[in-house]
Amino acid sequence: MLRQSLLGAVLIVALMAMSGETPSPLYVHRDPPSPDGLGKFFLGREIAHVMGHAAADWLERPERETEEGTALLVPALRLEPGAVVADLGAGTGYFTWRLAEAVTPQGRVYAVDVQPEMLERLGARMATRGVTNVLPWLGTEADPPAAGGLAGPGPDGGCVP
Ligand SMILES: C[S@@+](CC[C@H](N)C(=O)[O-])C[C@H]1O[C@@H](n2cnc3c(N)ncnc32)[C@H](O)[C@@H]1O
Repeated sequence: MLRQSLLGAVLIVALMAMSGETPSPLYVHRDPPSPDGLGKFFLGREIAHVMGHAAADWLERPERETEEGTALLVPALRLEPGAVVADLGAGTGYFTWRLAEAVTPQGRVYAVDVQPEMLERLGARMATRGVTNVLPWLGTEADPPAAGGLAGPGPDGGCVP
C-alpha cells in the first residue's frame, strides 16, 4: 500500500509538472513522525528516511513491477526522444535505464544520488544493459543540482561520468 502510494505520488507529481498545477500547501508537517518517516508529508505520503545502499537489492526485486505498477511511470511522463531528464534519487537505476530508453538516441539522463555506492551499482547496471546516455551525478542532501547545473559537469567535479 505504501509502495503504491509512493508510485502514485510520483505519477501525480509528474502529471502536475506537465499541467503546471502546484498543491497548496506543498508540504504538511505532523508530529510525532512515524518510526520510518520524517513527519513531513507530501501529497498525503510521509517522506521516509534516506534508504541505505545496503538494502539496494530490494529496489531491483522481480515482484516490484506487480506490486507498484512501475511500468506506468515512464509512459506517463510522455518524454520525447532527445529530452534531457534528471532522475533525482536514482538509486540503483531502476527507472534510469527506462528513462534513458525513452529519450534515446540523442537525449540523456542525469542520475543523481547522494550515495556513491548507489551510483556505482547504477553505473554497472547501465554498462550491463549497454545504456550509454546516462550520466551518474553525486549530489548532496543540502545541494541538489539546479537544472542549469545539469548542462555539464559541476564546478566541484560533482558529475561522475
Ligand atoms: C528509495 S530509493 C529509490 C531509488 C529509485 N528512484 C527507485 O525507484 O528505485 C531513494 C534514493 O534516493 C536517494 N536520495 C535520498 N535523498 C536524496 C537527495 N537529497 N538527493 C539525491 N538523492 C537522494 C537515496 O540515496 C536513495 O538511493
